[in-house]
Amino acid sequence: MRIIDHISDLHFNRVDTRAAGALLARLNADPAHLVAVSGDLTMRARRKEFRAARAFLDGLQVPWMAVPGNHDITAYYPWERFFDPFGRWEHFIGPDTEPMFEDDEIQVIGLNTVSRGGLHLQWENGKVPRAGLLRLLRRLRRLPEGPFRIVIAHHPFLAPPDQPGTPVVGRGERALRDLAQGGVRLVLSGHLHVGFHNIHRITAEEGDRLTVLQAGSATSTRLRGEANAYNRVVVENGRATWTAHHWNGETWT
Ligand SMILES: [Fe+2]
Ligand SMILES: [Fe+2]
Repeated sequence: MRIIDHISDLHFNRVDTRAAGALLARLNADPAHLVAVSGDLTMRARRKEFRAARAFLDGLQVPWMAVPGNHDITAYYPWERFFDPFGRWEHFIGPDTEPMFEDDEIQVIGLNTVSRGGLHLQWENGKVPRAGLLRLLRRLRRLPEGPFRIVIAHHPFLAPPDQPGTPVVGRGERALRDLAQGGVRLVLSGHLHVGFHNIHRITAEEGDRLTVLQAGSATSTRLRGEANAYNRVVVENGRATWTAHHWNGETWT
């Protein structure tokens, strides 16, 4: 059995500091095997924001992995944005924007869906990069079969069931098919600041299914009608179950 706490959209430094402090205490008091962070660690990719996000992650007494979100590349320095968009991420968070956690029960692989955008700077919704997807599929082929396979990415691959018109990541539908064929059973993502899950049926005949699980924002004060939240995922006997935890202003429930 493996437990993963999936947190997203921390958005330092627009953070509810009480929610963040209580979250850290809770994640440490009842530790998972892994904390998986699906991007938007910062608000504007400022160095001080990255420092604060890193201090939060350093406070975890649990292994963690993180992928970047659209807020984690700078909008203020075009040169940096186009030629070294993940330089700050690599400096403060980790050398890899496609990290992996692997043991004998789970394989969790990061997919970087952040697009630096063209001249029009339309980058918010992100896209699945062809090269990144191929790299991920190649990694999956090399990994031992058996462990439960999970992909973590910032942008949503499917819209919330009650808001079907919500923009999702570019090339996402196609990628979901490839991921399912690669044995991925669960995709964890964020970005919308709204939590939900959505089952993607690849082919009706096969009954082959992949679940897309969204976490709300764990600590940001920019909320979209939903309290701060994170998901606890339990993987056991080839199945994943999850529970959403919410901040009620006093405590995590
Ligand atoms: Fe966000
Ligand atoms: Fe985002």
